[in-house]
Amino acid sequence: MTGHGKGFGKVILFGEHIVVYGYPAIVSAMGNVTTAVVVDGKEGLTIVDNRPETPGYKEKKLGERDRALGLMFKFMNIDTQKTPLKITLGGNLVCASGKGSSAALATSIARALNDHFSLGLNDDQINEIAYEGEKGSAGTPSGIDNTASTYGGLLVFKKNLEGGPNQIERMKIKQPVEIVLANTGITQETKEVVSDIRSKKEAEPEKYDKLFSDYMKIFDEAKEAIGDFDMKKLGSLMDEKQDILREMTLSCPEIEKIIKAGKTKGALGGKLTGTGRGGSVILLTPGKELQEKVLKAVKESGFDAIKTFIGAK
Ligand code: MEV
Repeated sequence: MTGHGKGFGKVILFGEHIVVYGYPAIVSAMGNVTTAVVVDGKEGLTIVDNRPETPGYKEKKLGERDRALGLMFKFMNIDTQKTPLKITLGGNLVCASGKGSSAALATSIARALNDHFSLGLNDDQINEIAYEGEKGSAGTPSGIDNTASTYGGLLVFKKNLEGGPNQIERMKIKQPVEIVLANTGITQETKEVVSDIRSKKEAEPEKYDKLFSDYMKIFDEAKEAIGDFDMKKLGSLMDEKQDILREMTLSCPEIEKIIKAGKTKGALGGKLTGTGRGGSVILLTPGKELQEKVLKAVKESGFDAIKTFIGAK
């Protein structure tokens, strides 16, 4: 039987990196997805990777992708030497750091395998398998990316550091909000960046404790701003979050250039999203007109960008 599956891309609005240490984060799934189609293969595992990408992404991430697949197969007790499989990947999520591309890959494959082998797995089980895959890409990931990729929507995510179930809370927003998602063109290894931040945190505990407690204030206010649909406030909180990320050494000149280009044209706020030190930048641009204007400015400053939404169903 042909198995089909999809996984959403994601944007972290608040809490990248900090989420790894058990702090809550706000994440939104994107409308863009990765798709996987699984059929019986001839020998071992064949992968046809037709996902669109930022130049060089797939080659740089080939090792991570194969590690992720190996971990997922092991977890699911699938031996492709005995049961050869062919997996074809596609979809409209342009793979780039920061968008949850590796989680979307893992989720789409978990769903397609579930369909192919008629396993009858529910979303929680799919999420668990996708998390195994994420370990191949991110080392000790928080699980935020695969959670957004599996369930979709706008979520508060808090990792359970004791190993029990993570806290996942669905958030309501009055209506989807336009954003511009820009790409620095720099592909980062999440695993390496997470581990570097961990070393920095260990070397300067007081600095990081202060940054994380400042973050908690931003997080609380951001939840409120989303509930009140106060986009101006949300934008300025994104700027404050970017100040913290910069202090954590997660920004870079390309990120700052994109934020400047967007904000000059009226974006209400801007910050890196996801791994950082490259990857993706989110600019809050409620209304189609503002979104278009900011998109144009970012492109004119030399970067790729797309129009999308947060809080889309
Ligand atoms: C990556 O999209 C998000 C990070 O916080 C890593 C993680 O949560 O596992 C950087």
